[in-house]
Amino acid sequence: MEERVINGELQEEDSGIELSLRPTSLNQYIGQQTVKENLRIFIQAAKMRNEPLDHVLLYGPPGLGKTTLAAIIANEMEVQFRSTSGPAIERAGDLAAILSSLEPGDVLFIDEIHRLPHAIEEVLYPAMEDFFLDIIVGTGPSARSVRIDLPPFTLVGATTRAGLLSAPLRDRFGVLSRLEYYETDDLCAIIERTAEIFATKATDVASTEIAKRSRGTPRIANRLLKRIRDISQVRGEEEISLATTKTALEMLQVDEAGLDHIDHKLLKGMIDGYKGGPVGLETIAATIGEEPQTIEEVYEPYLLQIGFIQRTPRGRVVTSQTYAHFGIEQHPNK
Ligand code: ADE
Repeated sequence: MEERVINGELQEEDSGIELSLRPTSLNQYIGQQTVKENLRIFIQAAKMRNEPLDHVLLYGPPGLGKTTLAAIIANEMEVQFRSTSGPAIERAGDLAAILSSLEPGDVLFIDEIHRLPHAIEEVLYPAMEDFFLDIIVGTGPSARSVRIDLPPFTLVGATTRAGLLSAPLRDRFGVLSRLEYYETDDLCAIIERTAEIFATKATDVASTEIAKRSRGTPRIANRLLKRIRDISQVRGEEEISLATTKTALEMLQVDEAGLDHIDHKLLKGMIDGYKGGPVGLETIAATIGEEPQTIEEVYEPYLLQIGFIQRTPRGRVVTSQTYAHFGIEQHPNK
């Protein structure tokens, strides 16, 4: 997959800034109103009962703050935050080591939980439900099952693909929260907060412009802001201006709707080669030289969200908005 400044997935350059930008309480966390309101109540109730919080599944597109929210849950519950990921747990013993080292009430965060090996998922079921592990020790005729009691804990799982989670695993989460793409207002507030942490400032129109081109994703907004700040600083600006923002975004090849050359290739390919569709996912993939799964998980969700692509039983179609965006007249048979 090509590198893109507007990819919501975590990239090398984000690692340092993400940690320093991360809000640490629900009050500091901007947006995702419904998710926050629910969590606030569940956390308060669990604390009143002196019990660990129910297991929480956070799902939604990359870059919307699932990991941040998981760490906030631990903070608000006043317990330790332990973090791992589905692909990092290869053997049941790996999971047993982590789980048996938890203190009562701790939060264990498993990112990309849909990538947990199936055999490990099964070890997780009794751990989640009744706080014990059944581990097979030894092989062949001497193999036996050992029961390990665990401290009560909260599992916070995160996934970009809730549909890939097995039903038994999904059913063991008491709280299912879906994170949505952010509204422009919320993104503006996040950009202002980040600017302050960077000891810089953007004019209102500049931060609105960045927000509009960030695909509803804080991680992208922060990444764009970081690049635009560099240019603004070199230009000797006291405040990041709209003019500099526009120039910088042009240099970064991010258009008015937050689309880049890959989105353009995809959408233009559908318009020029297939009269705007319907066209199958596999065909689109072959046309632009990407994996169908990458298109489905990375490029397409935002294009669907802003209504530039629709899914139909016969394949994907572009919409009148897509034609309008490119200033292309719609095919007469549409
Ligand atoms: N930085 C990234 N996402 C954020 C959010 N939702 N609230 C505050 N700061 C953030």
